[in-house]
This record gives sequence, structure tokens and C-alpha cells, in this order.
Amino acid sequence: MFRTRITELLNIKYPIIAGGMHVLSRAELVSAVSNAGGLGVLASTTFETADELREEIRKTQSLTSRPFGVNLNLFPMMRPRSIEEDIDLFIDEGVQIVESSGSSPEPYVQQMKAAGMKIIHKVPAVRFAKKAENVGVDAVTVVGFECAGHPGMDDVTSLILIPSAVKAVNIPVLAGGGFCDARSFIAALSLGAEGIVMGTRFVATHECIAHTKIKDWIVKAKETETVVIDRSIGLPMRVIKNKPAKIALEMDRRHAPLEELLPVISGELGRKAWLEGDLDAGVVSLGMVIGRIQNTTSVKELFDSIIEEAKSICEHLNTIKSA
Ligand SMILES: Cc1cc2nc3c(=O)[nH]c(=O)nc-3n(C[C@H](O)[C@H](O)[C@H](O)COP(=O)(O)O)c2cc1C
Repeated sequence: MFRTRITELLNIKYPIIAGGMHVLSRAELVSAVSNAGGLGVLASTTFETADELREEIRKTQSLTSRPFGVNLNLFPMMRPRSIEEDIDLFIDEGVQIVESSGSSPEPYVQQMKAAGMKIIHKVPAVRFAKKAENVGVDAVTVVGFECAGHPGMDDVTSLILIPSAVKAVNIPVLAGGGFCDARSFIAALSLGAEGIVMGTRFVATHECIAHTKIKDWIVKAKETETVVIDRSIGLPMRVIKNKPAKIALEMDRRHAPLEELLPVISGELGRKAWLEGDLDAGVVSLGMVIGRIQNTTSVKELFDSIIEEAKSICEHLNTIKSA
């Protein structure tokens, strides 16, 4: 059940992907998602050196025999190494699936395809989905304004964006931004998507290395407790409304120069917040869906609940008479 072109393309059981998450998507979480029948994605930018990244890929391979992917962030400001170096490393290590994001993958598609990789490119707008299809990626993830990470400049929500992208391209579309359970999974399939990509929901799982204080905060948080910062530098990011976010917002308003903003949004301070549970240590990216997450669970239990409830929802929908 729930087989789509995505399950075929990626050779996975369920069309549910854990999008790459800087700092958090490490071997334990990624392998747990793949072992549960979805697709886990390592975040390559987490690793300062190529050797650390190589080690984490090998560790993931030792923890699962199922397919998993690696995120390739194409935005230059967010990279510890060159894009070329990471792609060569992926090829060396036999990476089969790449989740690219941040900029057009066009210059790299040919090399990755020639190495047999499947490419899923993540975009926040229909025009970028079309471009990605034109340059030859295998699937697109379309993320709505609700999402954690970078929602793009247009502020269009998933409910509008996903069916619009499905109409605009022929390759499979994955829905991202605001998904967390069976209801939203079935909603995505109804909108024409062939699977979902979740980030925030996977933070509140036992296998994620985020500090318990952050997981507990998510469980209590409301959907109104995130905000979009960094618009002034053209790279909006959804984060929780903590002290650094408020400072960054104020800087956005007065178009502060990048040099002033960078220390506030620093990845190192964000890492401290995630790993030490100090919620005000740095910016913390999470999606609006925090308002719908009511427990911390294991990845396996999460998958079981989504699939079982999704079947019940389908049965219920079948009982609704159209006349
Ligand atoms: C903590 C965190 C870090 C993220 N880091 C990345 C990243 O490095 N690269 C990327 O493409 N997406 C990143 N994302 C976005 C997710 O992969 C995914 O697209 C997004 O979380 C989906 O929206 P949702 O959070 O509403 O489920 C991150 C998300 C979170 C929560």
C-alpha cells in the first residue's frame, strides 16, 4: 500500500523521507528511517572535514542495508568544502541517492547521473521545480512556507504550492513543509504528491541527537512560535522565536550588513543550542508543524502509526458517499 513512483525510484517501502537536517541527520536517525521503510538523508554540511563525512556514510552503511541519501547543500555560504569535493566523495563511497538543495543542481547533474545516482532536488517555488525537471533531476521536493529550513521568498503555503507543482512538472513531486502524521500524509497524496518529506517531526524522535530539552519544547510548542528571519540577505530561514531570532529580525528590518548578521545566525551557536539544549544559544530552525507534534517517539513507532492510521483514513474516506 502507498506505493508510488517515489517508492519505485528509490526502492523503498513507504514514500516517506526524512529531509537532510544540518547537525541532526546523522547515522542513527538516517538508518532508523531507512530501516523503518522510508528514506533517511544524511546532512553533509554537518561534517567539517571530508574524513568525518566519509566515516558517517560508512557508519550509516553499517547500520542499514536499505537505501539512504545524502544532502548536498549547493548554497556556497553554507559549505565547509567545495561541492565538487563532496560529489567525488559520494561517488567513492557508493552513495546512491542525493537530496540537493539551495541552488540549481544543473552543473552537477550529468556527473551524478553518470555515476548512477538518483537526484531529488528541493525547491520552494514552482518555477524552480520546472527548472530542476528541465536539467534532469529524478524528482523534486516542493517545500511550502510552513517548512523548517529555507522556505523561499514567495511565502506560498504547501496547500497551494504542491498541487501547482504537480500540475507543472511530469517528474514525481514530494511534499514538504508541515507534514507530521497520517492525516497530512494522505493530504499530500490527495494533492498529487507521491510522498512526503519531513524534517521537524523527526527532530522529536528518540534517534535524533537533538537535546531532550529541545524535544520537550517542541511537544509543548504552538504553531505560532516560529518566525522567518534573514529575508534581507535573500535567504529566508524559519526558526523558533528565541532571543537570537528576535535580534536577527530587528537586523532584517534595518537591512543590517551581512557582517553584522552572520555572528547572530552562526551555525556554531545553532549547533550549541541543538546539542546542549540551550534554547537561546543560537538560531534553531524548526517548522510551523511544531504545533501539531504531541510526543517524542521512536522512528519505527512513528512509521507504524502513520501507515496504520493512513489506512484507516482511506477506509473512512471510502465511506463518504459522493451523492
Ligand atoms: C534542524 C533542521 C535543519 C535542516 N537543515 C537542512 C539542510 O541542511 N539542508 C536542507 O536541504 N534542508 C534542511 N532542512 C529542511 C528539511 O530537510 C525539510 O525540507 C524541512 O524540514 C521540511 O519541513 P518540515 O520541517 O515542516 O517537515 C532542515 C530542517 C531542520 C528542522
